[in-house]
Amino acid sequence: MNKTKIILDTDPGNDDLLAIIMALKSDLIDMRGLTIVGGNASLENTTNNALSLLTYMGRMEVPVYVGDASALNESSTSPEEFDEFKSHRIEIHGETGLHVSLPKPSIRPREMHAVDFIINEAESNKGELILVPIGPLTNIAMAIKKEPNLKNWLKGIHLMGGAVNVLGNVTEYAEFNIYCDPVAADEVMGSGIGIKLCGLDITRETSVKREETDWLGGNSPAEKIIRQLLDTVFRKLPDRDYFSLHDPITVLSVLYPELIDWEMYDVSVVCTGSEFGKTIGTLNIDGTVEVGVNIDQELAKQKISQILST
Ligand code: BDR
Ligand code: CA
Repeated sequence: MNKTKIILDTDPGNDDLLAIIMALKSDLIDMRGLTIVGGNASLENTTNNALSLLTYMGRMEVPVYVGDASALNESSTSPEEFDEFKSHRIEIHGETGLHVSLPKPSIRPREMHAVDFIINEAESNKGELILVPIGPLTNIAMAIKKEPNLKNWLKGIHLMGGAVNVLGNVTEYAEFNIYCDPVAADEVMGSGIGIKLCGLDITRETSVKREETDWLGGNSPAEKIIRQLLDTVFRKLPDRDYFSLHDPITVLSVLYPELIDWEMYDVSVVCTGSEFGKTIGTLNIDGTVEVGVNIDQELAKQKISQILST
């Protein structure tokens, strides 16, 4: 069976960890590499987390390319807004981006910049490569700007970001990945590339509940580290009763798009003012962004756990 070629653009990140493990484990995915962006923590930390995870999983052959730190919004927001953003980030993902400790990496990132890797892979695999960004869209926007042909070379983009018909999670308007770099997000949404958008509309409620920390029963390295992660998250966040599967849903959308109801929209992003980071969707049958509006939560969770447990 033909595997789907993907690049996972990521900022690990607790739920990124699950998404990366899914992409490593699925025999339907040909993971060409991880490209790293700052977001859930600094670029240095997110890079280190990716390298450590690959080391822990014994998957040192998977190449890692460092990208951009992402705008992280400091220059565009008031000091109060930026503080709120940082405390949200630290609360959810901890100071270093992960609520578990992983071994010191035994591998290093490749020399090439993430943006060049994305362009090269798209050119060498015309019509076959899907980009799967699960962090701020900085690297993807840079690649689109640097290589105008990228749009014709990609098979598509499945991205985690936005809150089209629901409230945001950093502010009432904005979802985290979009809030980090709304200008980049607006450029990607308006690029004309066929996008499947996995926003909070479908990812927030699809979650592991506090009473389900043994959701993955087995004792493989992946299952053990995920159990440990869920234990720590629920211990550190006593008021939180669920762990949303934002990034894993996005990987799942590549494998089983039929679990999600999609509607075609035009999407733009508010880049200034009080609604900063809001994704505005207008239904348009001729649009280019398919927004996930509904998901079979139980089946999605079941499929994710199946993949993580292989
Ligand atoms: C998104 O923001 C990050 O904190 C998560 O990893 C996910 O990609 C959810 O809003
Ligand atoms: Ca993420």
